[in-house]
Amino acid sequence: MGAMRWLGRIGWLAVILGAWLLPLAAQTPIPMTPRDFHVPGTQIGDMPLANLLEPNVCRACHGNYQAADVAREPYATWAGSLMALGGKDPLYFAQVTNANQDVENVGSFCTRCHLPVAVVTGHVAQADGSTLDAHDKQGVTCHFCHSMVDPVYKPGISPPEDASILAALDAVPGYASNAMFVLDPEGRRRGPREDANPMHELIVSPFHRDAALCGTCHDVGNVAVSKQANGTYRYNAIDTESPSHDPAQQFPLERTYTEWKLSAFADGGVDLGGRFGGTRGPRVSTCQDCHMPGLAGPPCNFCDVRPDLASHEFAGAAVPSLDLIAAYTADDPAVDPAHIAAGRERALSMLQRAATIELAHDAGELIARVINHTGHKLPTGHIEGRRAWLNLRFYDSSNALLGQTGGYDLATAELDEASTTVYEMHVGLSADAAAATGLPAGTTTHMALADTIEKDTRIPPRGFDNAAYIEGGAPVVGISYADGQYWHERRYPLPVGTQHVIATLYYQTLTRHYIEALRDGNVTDNWGTLLHSLWEDTGRGAPIAMTSTTLYLVDRVFANGFD
Ligand code: HEC
Ligand code: HEC
Ligand code: HEC
Ligand code: HEC
Ligand code: HEC
Repeated sequence: MGAMRWLGRIGWLAVILGAWLLPLAAQTPIPMTPRDFHVPGTQIGDMPLANLLEPNVCRACHGNYQAADVAREPYATWAGSLMALGGKDPLYFAQVTNANQDVENVGSFCTRCHLPVAVVTGHVAQADGSTLDAHDKQGVTCHFCHSMVDPVYKPGISPPEDASILAALDAVPGYASNAMFVLDPEGRRRGPREDANPMHELIVSPFHRDAALCGTCHDVGNVAVSKQANGTYRYNAIDTESPSHDPAQQFPLERTYTEWKLSAFADGGVDLGGRFGGTRGPRVSTCQDCHMPGLAGPPCNFCDVRPDLASHEFAGAAVPSLDLIAAYTADDPAVDPAHIAAGRERALSMLQRAATIELAHDAGELIARVINHTGHKLPTGHIEGRRAWLNLRFYDSSNALLGQTGGYDLATAELDEASTTVYEMHVGLSADAAAATGLPAGTTTHMALADTIEKDTRIPPRGFDNAAYIEGGAPVVGISYADGQYWHERRYPLPVGTQHVIATLYYQTLTRHYIEALRDGNVTDNWGTLLHSLWEDTGRGAPIAMTSTTLYLVDRVFANGFD
């Protein structure tokens, strides 16, 4: 570690603290404290651990269905989702290690969202995750979600029990974001149906049909990096809580809920003709509508069938992550590979329904349009590694490949980025942040230190509005999308002699650059090398074909006499 970084960090600390500290070791992380990452809501000690039951308890009734019905049970579907597997996700642990190297105590913030049971067990206090136990590692559990209380008390709508729960908190969350969750300390289960006939205490909770429940974790700002009056971001002074806890005022790391909230899906929903939602009907609005589609099935193994049971599949884009997890847990008796395999299938199906491609040609050029049908940006969520792009292959009448854009080399795991538009978000370090950390300014893989958005070309959802997205901390950067535009369109020159074009939209989450950065940056433990070898063993995060379409040029039709 060079003197530059060391001096830079000291200089930065001097600014922040107004004083010179004793010299820090070269690789010392920025000395943030638990206070820097403190968020309102339920804290350690607020809920007795005995009141939070493990998923296996729920499984006795909400699982163990007949073989033919396993795809309908809450337990099995949840068990194959990323939220159940966060405690077994090598990608997650590799990234926490590197984040802790950059910023002290940040790991507790990650844990609060990813392994939220640790707030109840108290293990969230160890930022390095060293005390996490088997209960914590079950991720976002049944009872966790079903103990969640709406932090915004709505008289006449919220369960009356909530008032005293909220009143007992030191600080009530004002926003759905950053894991500012509130749990019922008594663990009274909550669900949305008024007509349920359970065998345990149950409180009717409209919050469970509200996207804000999901937004509680699916909106991540760096609570230690705040927006300035001029729109740029800056590190907070050390040992100070986020000034407002308003996610729009924090450096954006994930804005899925904000993207959704500012879309047409939040504003009454959109009829997508049954693309998502299952038996909930063609009009989809909330996260639950698309990620917990309705199906005919029983809520428990001896219950009557409901025509619109909310599925617990929580399928997203995680196909390659599930492959890593399956490889990592191959010898773990607590993990059923069949659940993961089914979850992988559902994630693949979700990706295949996320977008469509339209092709046309005009004046020797191909016009390619990629249309986003999701309720947020495409891609959304975790920013590192995730990207989508269009691969165009131009063929002549003898089916010879004349050229392509967005080609991907499986041997090197490299994408020809220059020839296509890559839909992705990159964060970076400003000159100030570079000086403070000794790292280079510009695009970075040090997510926890980032204070600039270098790029955000991800395709917006229906109802997109530039001004509102800028205000919400989810701006478009490095490309332009007009208000209302939920597709990306680009013209490409057609090679002479092109008879047909095959267009394929690809999605990738585990890029080589990302996985190598987690390996090479790790100076603490072996998660980085383990992750890298699992990545090698599972096909190196090969891109997934989301959708594909072919355009035959008119000339070819005439040439062959098919007109
Ligand atoms: C002994 C059996 C049994 C066990 C164990 C059990 N439940 Fe239930 N639960 C039921 C029955 C029966 C219903 C009623 C289903 C219905 O009528 O829709 C129900 C309903 C529910 C609902 C329904 C909500 C709604 O609004 O539709 C939720 C949520 C729920 N249980 C959560 C849990 C959780 C979480 C656990 C584990 C901590 C659990 N249950 C354990 C039997 C059980
Ligand atoms: C990420 C949060 C989350 C997790 C984890 C979760 N649930 Fe749910 N669950 C919900 C939400 C939200 C609903 C209501 C969905 C709706 O009706 O739109 C629900 C609905 C239910 C229902 C009622 C279904 C119906 O339509 O009648 C049952 C039963 C249930 N959950 C049990 C479970 C069990 C058992 C587990 C663990 C195996 C579990 N849940 C895990 C969020 C969660
Ligand atoms: C109209 C349907 C729809 C709605 C509404 C919707 N999603 Fe999605 N979501 C999708 C589809 C399809 C995908 C898979 C494509 C993708 O990854 O973007 C997806 C992907 C995701 C992913 C994977 C991340 C990634 O890499 O892109 C997350 C996380 C997610 N959604 C969360 C949410 C949350 C939280 C909400 C509500 C605030 C929500 N979704 C609302 C359809 C929807
Ligand atoms: C306590 C925090 C929390 C809550 C509440 C929560 N999520 Fe998640 N969710 C996560 C985390 C963390 C992950 C990623 C897990 C990992 O890999 O470690 C995730 C992953 C997902 C994924 C998979 C993303 C992918 O890349 O495939 C989907 C889909 C999803 N959540 C949907 C929902 C929906 C819908 C709700 C509301 C009903 C919800 N979540 C509520 C924390 C939460
Ligand atoms: C406020 C909640 C929240 C916090 C805090 C948070 N995350 Fe996440 N993280 C999520 C959600 C939600 C997802 C799933 C989104 C998706 O799949 O795109 C996710 C996804 C991820 C993934 C991708 C997992 C996979 O297998 O695809 C990694 C890695 C990750 N987070 C690491 C971290 C690290 C490291 C920290 C702390 C520096 C952190 N997260 C803090 C909510 C959070």
